[in-house]
Amino acid sequence: MKIVHTLADLRLALTDSAHPAFVPTMGNLHAGHLDLVTRAKALGDCTVASIFVNRLQFAPHEDFDSYPRTLEADAEQLRAHGCDLVFAPSERELYPQPQTFKLLPDPALADILEGHFRPGFFTGVCTVVMKLFQAVFAGKAQGTAVFGQKDRQQLMVVRHMTEQFALPIRIVSGPTQRAADGLALSSRNVYLSASERAEAVQLSLALKALGQAVRASGSPALPDLLALEQQAMHALSARGWKPDYLTVRRQSDLLPPTPTERATGALVALGAARLGSTRLIDNLDI
Ligand code: PAF
Repeated sequence: MKIVHTLADLRLALTDSAHPAFVPTMGNLHAGHLDLVTRAKALGDCTVASIFVNRLQFAPHEDFDSYPRTLEADAEQLRAHGCDLVFAPSERELYPQPQTFKLLPDPALADILEGHFRPGFFTGVCTVVMKLFQAVFAGKAQGTAVFGQKDRQQLMVVRHMTEQFALPIRIVSGPTQRAADGLALSSRNVYLSASERAEAVQLSLALKALGQAVRASGSPALPDLLALEQQAMHALSARGWKPDYLTVRRQSDLLPPTPTERATGALVALGAARLGSTRLIDNLDI
């Protein structure tokens, strides 16, 4: 496995690859990332992972500075999982000038849920993903990029961007990987204290219960759906969480379902909530 830090070295290392399979990450890798790498291995002729903590997708009050940077341990794990090439650029390499030119994703998808609570987040994600796609796939007739379903809205935004710019890149998703108790694996789980870690699974349990309540209520009128969502948020708040949202949406576009869809449509329960100072997100198909 090769580790490169510059765009020039990345391109050189990819000279003989006709169809790279790429897993973009911000590092501090866990089994969820490694599962994406394993999937990527079957989808291209060179498996590439990037490790870059992207300042553009963090608001000034968020955890950019404290985000765990663990390049050596990450590289070890990537090597053990058969990754061929790691791209770990410096900020200066990826953003040699302040990045004033940015990609503005469709607000219908990018300004709701995560985008509502983290304004500008998806602009930062799209801008860096487009840069990384250029770096990995430029000059290639086709390529594959693999994203995790845990960041469900991100996966959809990136898919939409890839379609709208007609990029010759197939976007493949990997299922959320969970700890034995059901907590979705996340790089931010390392922030949790022991007692918070024991509590953290309650987010996915709350989403599961919300999904079941929505299905069990047949096709409730809109206020009833909102009431169920409010109840779910209050229940988490009562345990000491600070929820941003717990909601049931259509899988297709993350908009609220119609009454018929509430009963029988393809739905997803999504949530984001803060436990202590750690913000966790999760989603479950229902
Ligand atoms: O999901 C992530 O880790 C990041 O948002 C990504 C896609 C690597 C862009 O910085």
